[in-house]
Amino acid sequence: MSGLIVSSSSAAPLPLPRVDVTIRPGVLSDVPFLDSLQKLHTKQVGWMPTKQLEGKVLAGQVLVAETRETRETQNDERRTMNEDAGASQFIVHRSSFCVPTPVGYLIGADQYFKRDDVGIIYQINVVPEMRRSLVAATLLKAQFERSAYGCKLYCCWCAQDIEANKFWEAMGFVPLAFRAGSRGKGRVHIFWQRRIRAGDTTTPYWFPAQTSAGSIREDRLVFPIPPGMHWRDAMPIVLPGVSVLPGMRGDGSQRPALPGEGPPRASRKPAAEKPAKPAAKALRGFAFAPPVDATVKPEKPERAPRPKAKNDPRLVAAARELRDRWLEHVHADSSALVPQGKYEVSRALSDTRMAVTACSAPLALPSSIAA
Ligand SMILES: CC(C)(COP(=O)(O)OP(=O)(O)OC[C@H]1O[C@@H](n2cnc3c(N)ncnc32)[C@H](O)[C@@H]1OP(=O)(O)O)[C@@H](O)C(=O)NCCC(=O)NCCS
Repeated sequence: MSGLIVSSSSAAPLPLPRVDVTIRPGVLSDVPFLDSLQKLHTKQVGWMPTKQLEGKVLAGQVLVAETRETRETQNDERRTMNEDAGASQFIVHRSSFCVPTPVGYLIGADQYFKRDDVGIIYQINVVPEMRRSLVAATLLKAQFERSAYGCKLYCCWCAQDIEANKFWEAMGFVPLAFRAGSRGKGRVHIFWQRRIRAGDTTTPYWFPAQTSAGSIREDRLVFPIPPGMHWRDAMPIVLPGVSVLPGMRGDGSQRPALPGEGPPRASRKPAAEKPAKPAAKALRGFAFAPPVDATVKPEKPERAPRPKAKNDPRLVAAARELRDRWLEHVHADSSALVPQGKYEVSRALSDTRMAVTACSAPLALPSSIAA
């Protein structure tokens, strides 16, 4: 396989953010901020319960961007100038102080699918008033910088229908693959990935052939974006349990499967019988419901957990085969995947760091001690 000679050299070095912003690791007291901002953008970033957000903070997987807002205090002092005349004046003391104000955050890890060389961004979010100020770009670069030495790629999943895809593109990520989103929403998720080391043009890209956990909580096959297709183009929605060609209905008809649609009606299980309602008493055309005892709460029928739909292992094996062949193909063709980055956010590994790795002489084993 020949090396992939693709670079994002046309990308400009990342300028300083357009607002005065500092990046720091998240702490537990940031959780209300993270939660309120994710609630503002659930369509874009999904939703993590508070416990999960706390876990991410404790695992050191959260970065917070904050600005320093200057506030003033004012103390009025009345001073009598001329006691006899009763003349007095006010002297106003003003002092200013800085209040750090969080304006964005990133949740990410430098490992994905138990791979030490691939990191993932779970969420990135900036308050609306601070958008297009390079806050997110600065957060992203900081995440790359703090990652373990061996981490060479970063990825993220992004719903196809949101603006953020343009951000990933501008950051030099390439759209590699797609999967169906959750059943209810019927969206497609795009898998973006980027090499994070400055000047790296050879680390092979990678994506999982199947995902099972995460926000969808159900198996999804992952397919490469077919050659010639743009990430914006319509992609087939493939859900587990629909034993058909991608985009086709389970009844063999050629109509594309609709978002969230399962097998055709005939093959579906009969709907569970609804519990019979207590019969209303009829009286000359009027009907009266039985008396309601306000003290007795109607028992809620226990909802059985929805069984997780699993992918057919044969399809998973086929998706894996397709992934590996496709990756081999694009890695052999330098024009296949060209990053369209506007800014260069790669991580520059410092010389000392490199030198330590390259030059440290192996320690000699101590000579064996004679018994
Ligand atoms: C996506 C998001 C994080 C970007 O944050 P941001 O701080 O505004 O991004 P930056 O200022 O760092 O943008 C850097 C570059 O990305 C590109 N970009 C960012 N947002 C863009 C948009 N809405 N449309 C087009 N390009 C965009 C631009 O090229 C921009 O540089 P420029 O302003 O010099 O043209 C922000 O819009 C956001 O919080 N959205 C809601 C949550 C979300 O969608 N998260 C991502 C889920 S996958």
